[in-house]
Amino acid sequence: MYDVTVIIPTYKEEANIKKIISEVDAVFKQNAINGEILIVDDDSPDKTIEIVNELKKTKPNLNIVVRREEHGLSQSVADGFVHASSDIFVVMDADLSHPPVRIPTMVSELRAGYDVVIGSRYMEGGGIKKWPLKRRIISIGATFLGRLLFPDISDPVSGFFAVKKSVVANTSLKPRGYKILLEVLGKGSWENDKEIPFEFVDREIGSSKLKLKTIIEYAEQVIDIALFSISHHESAAWKEWKRVFKFGLVGLSGIVVNMVVLWYLTEFVGFYYLVSSLFAIELSILNNFFWNDLWTFKAGGSHKLSSRWHRLISFHAVSAGGLVINMGILYLLTSVGGVYYLISNIIGILVGFGWNFMVNRRVTWTRR
Ligand code: GDD
Ligand code: MN
Repeated sequence: MYDVTVIIPTYKEEANIKKIISEVDAVFKQNAINGEILIVDDDSPDKTIEIVNELKKTKPNLNIVVRREEHGLSQSVADGFVHASSDIFVVMDADLSHPPVRIPTMVSELRAGYDVVIGSRYMEGGGIKKWPLKRRIISIGATFLGRLLFPDISDPVSGFFAVKKSVVANTSLKPRGYKILLEVLGKGSWENDKEIPFEFVDREIGSSKLKLKTIIEYAEQVIDIALFSISHHESAAWKEWKRVFKFGLVGLSGIVVNMVVLWYLTEFVGFYYLVSSLFAIELSILNNFFWNDLWTFKAGGSHKLSSRWHRLISFHAVSAGGLVINMGILYLLTSVGGVYYLISNIIGILVGFGWNFMVNRRVTWTRR
C-alpha cells in the first residue's frame, strides 16, 4: 500500500520513460512521499516495456501494466485507477510535458480536502511552451467545449491532474480519446476542485498521437457527458444547465415587466412611448438582476463581487453589451444580409442571451 500512485500512460515512449520515472522518484524522495509509479502501456512495439522492466529491478515502487485490448490513452488511465495501490492518484504524461515538481502540491491539496486537483495551463501562472499554432487552436476549441460543461474550471481537458480514489471508484467511466479528466469530472463523484497552474512544455522527442479521430471522439464525449448530466441530476454540469434555464426564465419575466411598464406609462401616465421605454428597460434590468442574484446564482459571500451594488453595476454593463449585440445582429442580418427582420431579431436575442449568461456568469457572479 502506498500513499500516492502516479499513473503514467505510455505508448512508444522509449526515449522519455527513463527520465520521467527518475524525476518522479526523485520528487517522492525529496518530499518524503511513499509513492508508487504505475506505467500503463499499450503494448508498445519499441523498448518502453523492456526499459521499465529493467528499472523495476532497482525500484520496488515501480509497476507496469501492459494492455493488449482497447488501445487508448483514456482507457489506459482508467485501467491505472483499477490497478493502483493507494487512495490518491496523480495522472501525468510520459513525455515530460508535465512537471513532476508539482506533484507534492497536488497531493497536499487533496489532503487539504479537495477531491480533484487540476494542473491548469489556462490560469494565471500557467502556460504552454513551444506549441504550433494549429495545436493551440485545437486546444482552445476543446477547452471552450469543456467549459460549457464546467464553467468554473479553466482547464477541464488537462492531462495533468490528481484525484482521490473515491471519486472514480464506483463510477462507470466510458473512457475514450484523450480527455480522461473531462470524463472523471462528468461522471465521478466529487464536490470541490482546485486548480494549480503549471507550464506545459511540448515534447522534445517523439510525436503526439493526437489525430482527427481524437477530435471527433471528443465531441461525442462532450455530448455523452451532457446527456449523462441530464439523467444524473447531481453533477456539476447539471447544476450549470439549471442555471441557464433559470436565467432564461428570468429573462422572460423581464420581457413581461418591460411590456407592462411600457404600456402603463404610455397609456395611464401619458409619457411619450420612447420615454416610457427607457423606464421599461431599466425596470426590466432591475427585475432580472434581483431574480438572478437571489435565485439563479444565489449570490453571497463566496462571490468575487461580494457587494450587491458592484454586481448590479456589472450586470448593467453586461446587459448594455447584450443590447448592442442584439441590435447589431438585427441590423447586420437585415440591412446587410437581407434577412426578414423578425428572424434576425430571434437570432439577435439568442446570441445576446448567450452573451449575457456567459459574461455575467464569469464577471458578475463569478465565485472566489
Ligand atoms: N497507454 C497509452 N495508450 N498511452 C498513450 C496512448 C495510447 O493509446 N496515446 C498516448 N499515450 C500516452 C503518451 O505516451 C504520453 O505519455 C501521454 O499519453 C500523452 O500523449 P501525447 O500524444 O504526448 O499527448 P499530447 O501531448 O498530444 O496531449 C496532452 O495534452 C493534452 C492537453 O492539450 C495529453 O496530456 C492530453 O491528455 C491532454 O488533453
Ligand atoms: Mn505530449
